Amino acid sequence: MVRPARGISVFTCSFALVACGGVEPTETTASTGEATAAPSGEAESAGESAGESDVGEALRPSWHEDVAPLVYRSCVGCHYDGGIGPFALDTYERAAPWGAVMDEVVQAKTMPPWGAHDTDECQSPAPFKDDMRLSDDERRLIADWVAVGTPEGDPANAAALPEPPSLELKDTTATLQNPTPYTIDGTEDHFVCMVVDPGLTEDVWVTGTQMIPDNDAVVHHVLTYIDPDGASDAVVDAEGKFDCPGGFANLPGVQQMSTWVPGGVPTEMPPDTGIPMPAGSKVIMAYHYHPTGAGDDVDQSAIAMRWTTEKPALTGYVGVIGAAFSVGDDLLPGPNDPGGVPVFEIPPNVSGHTETIVYEMPEGIPSIPIFSEGAHMHYVGVEMKIWIERDGEDICLLHVPRYDFNWQRLYDYDVPVDQLPTIQGGDKLYMRCTYDNTLENHNLVEALAQQGLSEPVTVGIGESSLEEMCLSLFGLASALPLHELL
Ligand code: HEC
Repeated sequence: MVRPARGISVFTCSFALVACGGVEPTETTASTGEATAAPSGEAESAGESAGESDVGEALRPSWHEDVAPLVYRSCVGCHYDGGIGPFALDTYERAAPWGAVMDEVVQAKTMPPWGAHDTDECQSPAPFKDDMRLSDDERRLIADWVAVGTPEGDPANAAALPEPPSLELKDTTATLQNPTPYTIDGTEDHFVCMVVDPGLTEDVWVTGTQMIPDNDAVVHHVLTYIDPDGASDAVVDAEGKFDCPGGFANLPGVQQMSTWVPGGVPTEMPPDTGIPMPAGSKVIMAYHYHPTGAGDDVDQSAIAMRWTTEKPALTGYVGVIGAAFSVGDDLLPGPNDPGGVPVFEIPPNVSGHTETIVYEMPEGIPSIPIFSEGAHMHYVGVEMKIWIERDGEDICLLHVPRYDFNWQRLYDYDVPVDQLPTIQGGDKLYMRCTYDNTLENHNLVEALAQQGLSEPVTVGIGESSLEEMCLSLFGLASALPLHELL
């Protein structure tokens, strides 16, 4: 019943390429041992200068000797046949024609995609797990390779290739798919919840999840929930679905389990941490679908889950906090507020517009470790910073200086639980979002076009794509029963 995500089934074949395709020497180079043989096919023009400067000396850096290990480590996890990257970079012939563009995106730091950065106003409180950023030396290596004409090098001297990092959840216990295919028609956004029964006969604790979007052209967000008491039984229809405004499941007793937004990666709990899922629980997947406007689209997404039957020491909580549908006293005054009265409104043709939200944690909440942080806005958002003010000091949690709707994800801190940043009673949690409501913002241009518009409009707060949010996604790990405290 469950179909693998686009790409999962070919994942194994592409790993086979690592062993046989990527490093296999060609006839010519193997017999002469020369690194100067002109590459064949598409790669010919890119490698031309390598061929021209044939003086018997190997040009460096070269693909086989220097560049391939970096590309395998940092790019091939997405850029393989059937991967989420639009083309493969796993062989010399495939990578060389892209050399100049690779150099461009790597120097611009748009590839590998990674939004969290240390800036003058924010230094992250801990290193990040699976940090994809390249070092200055690595960026220079790509630039140097392109500067000498993307030479292939000698396959006989090929450096060992690391296995590309997997974007898949490991040791999956079960994969649950939407009970029925869902058709996204018209031009309006759809908000629908799907209920799945994992058939649990004993209590378990969820330690990892991975959303597997089926039709990622239309899936705008998915929040998943554990429904321990069957609250969804009363609202679900014969096809296993019910309406959920905003794509949030507002039912008694439900506990959020994961957040998926475009660019999302698997959610992993820290060691010895799990989200309780009692026997008999249902799983709810709350979708925000955004039609492409190009006719009916069908989606039947799935979620891969890993759970354990042994109670972990810490309970995991994931959720969202911030401005989603409305704001109250928590909105601070900002630019363009009419008459100085704070209002969440982004005028058309204005860039650098900020909205800032602050929440004060009620006194008495103990110190709770934060293991994960993410930024969420829609298409007008271009920058977001999340920080805590405690005893007059700022503790920065996350700064995404060049926010891109297509590359949202949760950033996990890579330190033991007792060294994680924390939140506690009396803390002020700030979220500052910057918006660019001009035609300079290419994501906005795309979103306007989908609505048949060519000029920016006034953007308020709300759930649809041409409204905005200013939300922090977070993951907490606690020894205490948080649902009683928060
Ligand atoms: C997490 C997955 C992922 C990783 C890792 C990744 N890419 Fe990409 N890359 C993509 C996707 C998806 C696109 C197409 C959408 C986009 O451009 O944002 C893309 C687009 C590109 C483009 C085309 C950009 C353009 O403007 O046409 C280039 C070039 C590129 N990647 C190079 C690289 C290089 C080089 C690396 C490693 C240093 C890398 N990518 C790592 C997923 C990835």
